[in-house]
Amino acid sequence: MQPSSRLDRLPPYLFAELERKITERKAAGVDVISLGIGDPDTPTPDVVIDALAAGARDPGTHQYPSNRGRPELREAFARFYDRRFGVALDPDSEIIPALGAKECVFNLSLAFLDPDTVALAADPGYPVYTGGPLLAGAEAVLMPLVPELSFAPDLDAIGTDVAARARLLFLNYPNNPTGAVVPDGLFERAVEFGREHDVLIVHDASYTETTFDGYVAPSFLETPGAKEVGVEVFSLSKGWNMTGWRTAAIVGNPDAVAAYWKLKTNIDSGMFEAVQLAAIAALDAGAPAEMVSIYKRRRDLVCNALHEIGVDVTPPRGTIYVWAPVPEGHTSASYCEMVLEESGVVVSPGGAYGPNGDGFFRISLTVSDERLAEALERLRGSLSAS
Ligand SMILES: Cc1ncc(COP(=O)(O)O)c(C=O)c1O
Repeated sequence: MQPSSRLDRLPPYLFAELERKITERKAAGVDVISLGIGDPDTPTPDVVIDALAAGARDPGTHQYPSNRGRPELREAFARFYDRRFGVALDPDSEIIPALGAKECVFNLSLAFLDPDTVALAADPGYPVYTGGPLLAGAEAVLMPLVPELSFAPDLDAIGTDVAARARLLFLNYPNNPTGAVVPDGLFERAVEFGREHDVLIVHDASYTETTFDGYVAPSFLETPGAKEVGVEVFSLSKGWNMTGWRTAAIVGNPDAVAAYWKLKTNIDSGMFEAVQLAAIAALDAGAPAEMVSIYKRRRDLVCNALHEIGVDVTPPRGTIYVWAPVPEGHTSASYCEMVLEESGVVVSPGGAYGPNGDGFFRISLTVSDERLAEALERLRGSLSAS
């Protein structure tokens, strides 16, 4: 048996590796607290579950779905975008449901990249922005995100050769893993860049519904000209506690949406229609506001505890993560390994999101306040020693 050589180009997927280590520690009897993956710990809203249950009882949902999605679902996305962002979308040509943002981001790489072409990916960034291009046989060129530039990529620093070969540029705000919100002017600059270099701008809007302190995250498509050069990937996973449901959509530029759809018809057979009905209920109800207050409370708990220990963190205005510096003398990998080993706490090493993430670790706010507080108590020794 010989797996393809393209698999050799990939590092192990971050969370697969973490899962293996957690299983190992648990088998050794350790009470592991995992602040690794960002997987909401509270249930999906009842209104969504009720719609799924009713939909599943209707035999009309049991056959192959259309890969375009039910018209009612595309209309629900359009209604949501209009109400939430003031963005008008044509349900017939500018919206296709996706089986999660991950599927969509990955398939965009297959749909748009050839060997010798480039995808521009944030460093640090969600690993699929680099894994997708590699699996497509193309190259991922990293754009550093640094605190000094408010975690905006410097699009003026991209060399002309790279820009000429670029086909995709991935952005994501509120940002995983840094928690940054979109810096002023970045979306406008991205539209210019897309026009200048004929690059499709892909904005991953996985966290727009989870923001704090009065901040309201915009859609990239609110930016004048954005629909000419870009698409947005909108996911229900985090805002609605629906990670297991695999519900998202690609919205925006109709040519890009059509290319994605053409690829997708060859790869999967769409979203279970009962899940589509549940997604309609979710979109019409809006993201549950109580989740935002839960994450805000946990964010404050974590940031206050870190400040008290003397760790310099900026409370994020969006996402479900806190991004913190590792103690001096550690790489992010060595620190995260040490705390798992010594404290049974899993945090994500910043370096796994790209070289500019090294020196940081990411805490996910998706466990109860009590477990978070206990995890921070266990981390106290390792952090105050810095
Ligand atoms: C930036 C970003 N994009 C996409 C995803 C995956 O979302 P989905 O569950 O919709 O596939 C995640 C999950 O953590 C993420 O952080």
